[in-house]
Amino acid sequence: MGLALSVILYVTLGVFIIGTLRRIARYASTPAPLKIPTTPAPTTRSGVVMRLGREVVLFESLFKASKWTWLFGWLFHAGLFFVLLAHLRYFTEPVWWWVALLSQFSPYFGMMMLIGLAGLLARRFLVDRVRYISAPSDYLMLVFLMVIAGSGLAMRYWLHADIVQVKEFALGLLAFDFGILSFNPILVLHLLLVAFLLLIFPFSKLLHAPGLFFSPSRNQVDNPREKRHIAAWAKSANTNSTEKSRG
Ligand code: HEM
Ligand code: HEM
Repeated sequence: MGLALSVILYVTLGVFIIGTLRRIARYASTPAPLKIPTTPAPTTRSGVVMRLGREVVLFESLFKASKWTWLFGWLFHAGLFFVLLAHLRYFTEPVWWWVALLSQFSPYFGMMMLIGLAGLLARRFLVDRVRYISAPSDYLMLVFLMVIAGSGLAMRYWLHADIVQVKEFALGLLAFDFGILSFNPILVLHLLLVAFLLLIFPFSKLLHAPGLFFSPSRNQVDNPREKRHIAAWAKSANTNSTEKSRG
């Protein structure tokens, strides 16, 4: 059990890291030929950093667009963020004090995830405009994250996993030392779905997490009059044509 799950987690983690880095490299090298920040936009670099910060932490533009989507979307993401931080308890020894503190509340964070995901799923069924553009993968992604959160909570309240063994297993993963894991169907489901999440991340809409930082409408400074915007490839094309006309 432990060996099989370790191998699956290593392989899927490898796909996640390499796949996501390759995507990021592609985003970073894709030219943005036009100046298209959504206005009103910041006029300085530090303003852009603040804007992106507000997008990531508060989902500012989603708040302006739709209050219900914002509420459920934010609940889910904030819950996920704190659940992941609290999961550090399995991977650290001794456990940092703030992780121990967060762990006390982790079932509530898990419930925040579930409520958020349920709201986002209801939106896909109930709002005509959204249902029209929803593909099966949009529904599946939400259901699948609900099963991850649901299986986590099921272990907390119902079919308890041997937490000491899970921790040894998790620490073993970090040390390339395969641990033993006794069979608990919910834990196996939880871990297999986590592996699946890692596997699909670089090929799915989950890429919006790194993608946000490369969005020209959010990361550009509103200074087209002060500074002419020329994409990197256009710069070299410009130089070439100037050289040609000189020659
Ligand atoms: C930097 C981190 C992240 C930010 C800022 C972010 C932000 C957002 C925003 C603004 C939406 C839009 C909702 C909409 O307009 O419909 C969204 C949707 C979504 N996010 Fe994230 N996200 C992040 C990371 C993640 C991660 C790590 C996951 C899961 C592993 C995730 C899962 C989802 C899902 C499933 C949706 C679709 C919800 C729907 O069906 O409407 N996000 N995210
Ligand atoms: C290898 C990585 C992971 C391991 C070993 C693991 C293990 C566990 C275990 C043993 C529990 C039960 C906690 C208890 O009984 O007190 C749990 C709960 C939970 N897990 Fe995971 N998990 C992993 C990754 C994830 C990921 C990536 C997510 C989210 C996408 C997640 C979401 C949850 C949630 C929402 C809960 C319930 C709340 C809580 O107790 O923290 N887990 N996990």
